[in-house]
Amino acid sequence: MSKPKVMISPGAGMDNPGLFERELSDIADVFFGTFKSGEEIPPEVKGAEAMILSLELVNERLLTNVPRLKIIARYGVGYDNVDVEACTRRGIYVTHTPGILSHAVAELTIGLMLCLSRRLIHADRYARTEWALPKENRGARFPMGIDLYGKTLGIIGLGRIGYEVAVRARAFGMKIIYYDVERKVDAEKTLGAQYVDLKTLLENSDFISIHVPLTPQTRRLIGEKELRLMRPTAYLINTSRGPVVDEEALCRALKEGWIAGAGLDVFVKEPLPLDSPLVKMENVVLAPHIGTYTIETRRAMAMMCIENVRAALMGKIPPNLVPEQREIFGVK
Ligand code: GLV
Repeated sequence: MSKPKVMISPGAGMDNPGLFERELSDIADVFFGTFKSGEEIPPEVKGAEAMILSLELVNERLLTNVPRLKIIARYGVGYDNVDVEACTRRGIYVTHTPGILSHAVAELTIGLMLCLSRRLIHADRYARTEWALPKENRGARFPMGIDLYGKTLGIIGLGRIGYEVAVRARAFGMKIIYYDVERKVDAEKTLGAQYVDLKTLLENSDFISIHVPLTPQTRRLIGEKELRLMRPTAYLINTSRGPVVDEEALCRALKEGWIAGAGLDVFVKEPLPLDSPLVKMENVVLAPHIGTYTIETRRAMAMMCIENVRAALMGKIPPNLVPEQREIFGVK
């Protein structure tokens, strides 16, 4: 009898060479594949019973064409690329990798803040090109920064990742305020964080960091009105999903000085087009969606996907179902 076929998307496979084959080959045939919206779905993909996916779009069209599918295992925590309702209707599990990646995203967030506060990109360039020149050429280009110590960090979304960012920011001596759809009283106690409404957060933060999932409610949560409420000295950090911010309004804010700068790991269109105005801006630090991209975290994410796929193929409920499916499949 042939084994069930498990499709691994190139993003997940390339990060963890040999791992999926080693861990799943006793119960499945692993193959590397992908599909693109608007293009014919490759024949081998149509036979998959499980998929470990990066950010490929999972919609009705895909599900109709992959009739034996039992599980979509998202290699990551966000699952805005997956039509969960359509999967649920067909009895297909959707899992993700929460928790294990929070510290990696939090570290990148702090890294982006430091990069902006200490002008590290500029400093690196300066050290390589201008530092050794005669002193009179130093002038205003010598990279004067600002302290994080004593500044206010506004966290939008105090979930698992937002919490880890707050823990680290506290260690830098920052004051934490946060906005969330839900008040987190326990976190307020452990972090000394203060709950505020979004307007208060925007008006009173020196740094703002976004940690919400992309949903219809959070799409363009930060638009022109919100950016105009921020201080001209404030920085915006986004390591969540690009479309949470109105990118065109952000470009105007950065160009016209409504805010001081931004640290961005996510964009409306990825990879970020080379002709995006962001590419040429000096007051932004850009990263190519690397929030979870560390050796340890990517391996932990792969192992979590493997555990979920294994469970589903063996007729069990996978341990890391997305919240929308937990009750439906009878998981607490
Ligand atoms: C990364 O973008 C993730 O969803 O984990």
